[in-house]
Amino acid sequence: MLILNLGLYPFLCNRVWISIDITELSGPRKASGSWGLGLVFFPLAVVVMAVLVVQLDTYETVAYPMHELGEQMYVAARKNAGMVSGLEKIGSGELVGAEDIVYEPKSGLVYTGCHDGWIKRVKLADSVVENWVHTGGRPLGIAIDESGDVFVADAYKGLLKVSINGKLELLTHEAEGIKFGLPDGVVVAKNGMVYFTDATYKYSFREALNDLLEGRPHGRLLSYDTSTKQTKVLARDLYFANGVELSPDQDFVIFCETFMRRCSRYYLQGEKRGSTDVFANNLPGLPDNVRYDGDGHYWMALPWDNSLLWKYTQTYPFMRKIFAFTLKHFHKMPDIMKFGGVIVLDLEGKPIGGYYDDTWRMTSSGVKIGEHLYLGSVTKPYILRLNLSQYPLAFATL
Ligand SMILES: *[C@@H]1O[C@H](CO)[C@@H](O)[C@H](O)[C@H]1NC(C)=O
Repeated sequence: MLILNLGLYPFLCNRVWISIDITELSGPRKASGSWGLGLVFFPLAVVVMAVLVVQLDTYETVAYPMHELGEQMYVAARKNAGMVSGLEKIGSGELVGAEDIVYEPKSGLVYTGCHDGWIKRVKLADSVVENWVHTGGRPLGIAIDESGDVFVADAYKGLLKVSINGKLELLTHEAEGIKFGLPDGVVVAKNGMVYFTDATYKYSFREALNDLLEGRPHGRLLSYDTSTKQTKVLARDLYFANGVELSPDQDFVIFCETFMRRCSRYYLQGEKRGSTDVFANNLPGLPDNVRYDGDGHYWMALPWDNSLLWKYTQTYPFMRKIFAFTLKHFHKMPDIMKFGGVIVLDLEGKPIGGYYDDTWRMTSSGVKIGEHLYLGSVTKPYILRLNLSQYPLAFATL
């Protein structure tokens, strides 16, 4: 019996099993000569027809530049079932799809954008959740400047600013005549420059999987100058541009390309100004948000690991074409991930360790606040908190 797990529906998280019983197709075992041929040809004809149907679909998939991936990064995983019981759920039921997290130390508030369109504030002292401002869209990446103004990459609206007193303003929604398709990550510099990503100009948030399946780079790294109100493209042709973060000296901005499992640096100052190089390559999973902890480490969320099925999916465009077909007609595709988690990188992008678990799938951000790690997720209905003193980081042996 062949069982296909057509379960990945990442933004809704439902699971359906479809089973096809091959034995039903193959008729009685002992058959006459013509039956014997039928036994071989009938299943073959079914497969050929299926291939033809998929081939005729106009959706085009192309090869990923796999040769660009460097040596596989190895990170020793802290995979510990005991740790799961040490996780605290914050705002259960209220914080649905808290994709990114930012902390404001003066007020002790965490800001996060949720699935229902609200930017919510959570008082860390008592975990009380407040609906702060509704964007009318889907807030994803979130950042805060020293004056308390909040910047939001909203998947449907564009780059937004919410002033400390709650006034919502659309800053930009296009660059070089191309409208943003899926604004995703954001960070704000001390000088008022905002750096953000548009994951793909071609697909919307709901269609993000199609961008993965197509295999073409539709993402951009952008900047917005709050004084001149100018939007600029800093890097283009990115494979799902996602998390962004500034270096401690603010001399470069890190940006992640989820589908190519890499993060690069765009230099803002010094000799390399305006150029780009690779920061972390061939990551053990698909990177989402990355956040600096103020103490020499970047915490990078990996919603999916680099599973064997994902490797095949990425390598073979025809396989992606089949999945695009099942997604289009059955709204399902195979579950290509096993687990998710957070890894920690040093200032040079070298891995130090990480936390993985199969229950941490779709973890979209990991932010260290004090002695705790806070985990945001694009699908879960809460933020998770882990006491890092109790569960210290497992250092990688490279
Ligand atoms: C975190 O764990 C440490 C070590 O077990 C403990 O001393 C501390 O009280 C814990 N913090 C919280 C807030 O539970």
